[in-house]
Amino acid sequence: MSDHMPQACPLPRETPAEARRGFLSNFLMILGLVAGYGLGLFHFLRYLVPLHRKTPRRELFAGTLAELPVGSSRTLKDLRGEGITLARVADVPDDPARGFRALSSVCPHLGCKVHWESANNRFFCPCHNGVFDKDGIAVSGPPAHEKKNLSTFEVKVNKDNGWVYVLVSGESGHA
Ligand code: FES
Repeated sequence: MSDHMPQACPLPRETPAEARRGFLSNFLMILGLVAGYGLGLFHFLRYLVPLHRKTPRRELFAGTLAELPVGSSRTLKDLRGEGITLARVADVPDDPARGFRALSSVCPHLGCKVHWESANNRFFCPCHNGVFDKDGIAVSGPPAHEKKNLSTFEVKVNKDNGWVYVLVSGESGHA
């Protein structure tokens, strides 16, 4: 009876070369999966948290120091056509740019035109008596109630020639 028992068939054994090939192909497969999922994860996270990209800025020529005495102001337009009020509020000889304020001339309440009042050292919106201090902080009227300040722009002065620039977004708004 034991003569008819089926004999267990021995499993074919891997040669060392086959084992190396198997290991290498598994390794490459895992590497491919890790790279693929990693790239997918990277793009997913980038979609969720966009990389901080600096918006390019342009220098908008506003005039010279001589043309802009303390107390004066002028209105400019950025590349999108939005109004900016540039006011010289003080004379700061060692850093003239600090004597300027460049603020949006569009009232954050309902969009009327804001202007600089040198005598009162403030920006004023005549539509509903909106008042902003020299830094564009709303201090009374509807903008103050709504806690809406004027947006600000950086000012740069070339000390060599006295040219004054307002730094605005380099994007024109036209896609
Ligand atoms: S629009 Fe300027 S206060 Fe209303």
